[in-house]
Amino acid sequence: MKLRHSYCTPFSILVFITLPCLISAQACQNSCGKIPISYPFGTGLGCGDPRFQKYVTCNQDKLTLTTHTGCYPVTNIDYTNQVIYISDPSMSTCACTQPSKGFGLDWDAPFSFHDDTVFTLLDCSTTSSPIYKTNGYSDNNGTAVPQCDRTGAPICGFLFSCQAIIMLNLPISTCCVYTPVDLGPSFEMDLQKLQCSSYSGFYSFSGQVANPENWKYGIALKYKFNVYNDYPRSCADCEGSHGVCGYRGAYNSFICNCPNGLNATSDCFFGYNHGSSLLKWQTGNRLICSLAFFLVWAFL
Ligand SMILES: *[C@@H]1O[C@H](CO)[C@@H](O)[C@H](O)[C@H]1NC(C)=O
Ligand SMILES: *[C@@H]1O[C@H](CO)[C@@H](O)[C@H](O)[C@H]1NC(C)=O
Repeated sequence: MKLRHSYCTPFSILVFITLPCLISAQACQNSCGKIPISYPFGTGLGCGDPRFQKYVTCNQDKLTLTTHTGCYPVTNIDYTNQVIYISDPSMSTCACTQPSKGFGLDWDAPFSFHDDTVFTLLDCSTTSSPIYKTNGYSDNNGTAVPQCDRTGAPICGFLFSCQAIIMLNLPISTCCVYTPVDLGPSFEMDLQKLQCSSYSGFYSFSGQVANPENWKYGIALKYKFNVYNDYPRSCADCEGSHGVCGYRGAYNSFICNCPNGLNATSDCFFGYNHGSSLLKWQTGNRLICSLAFFLVWAFL
């Protein structure tokens, strides 16, 4: 009986130590499907930067950008150059044309069009579309100047060599290369207003200007961390300790969501200023967990 007792007590203590190791899970993930996620993006509420949380979300391993014009799959994020790439399932490409309502960014969203993004409006009404008329712009003689980018005209030529566009049998004059700078303060490309039935967007010629089949279709957006665009030091420290940056509370105060599921105020090495001293450093915690697991296993 005595033996059994002494066997049981350390066992229950071990189970007690092991339990938190088992139940804790990192609330904020460092990837969404195949896309690595780090600051300022996040995989859920309380993760990443609160300014971005409402626009970029992870659902069932799919990262999505939401604007007032729709939901767009995020295809890639270039963290070095701070560019997020999205696709618009409703846009036309060399392979497929389809009607679209256009694309717009919310005025208060922390995104702007990347210079590489080129929009080509397709099937625009040459008689009623405002891009061919007035809009305040005219040359010295009072003749209306279309808002289309004249230097971009060859792009229309190349696009019109695509089989899907040839099939539409449209005159090339209905094509207009529209650079984001012309989208105005609301970053709006409302095709209904512009009297065009479709658009195509791309951000790279893939080194072959004359081969529209290989262009990179989609939209490239720049993002900024904040006005000064500096990476918050606290977040860099957090990510350096395998944590994921997040926020909480009424003031969106910074937290570091650590691999063991706990939230630290700085990083996952020394950031725990609450709870047991066992958790003062992440490596120690991991060691204790592994040891506990091993001992439980040995007991069984
Ligand atoms: C840690 O923070 C995340 C994100 O804010 C939250 O979802 C999670 O519940 C927090 N975990 C703990 C243990 O407080
Ligand atoms: C303006 O009109 C003059 C003749 O009246 C013509 O020579 C000139 O080319 C016109 N300019 C433009 C930009 O159309």
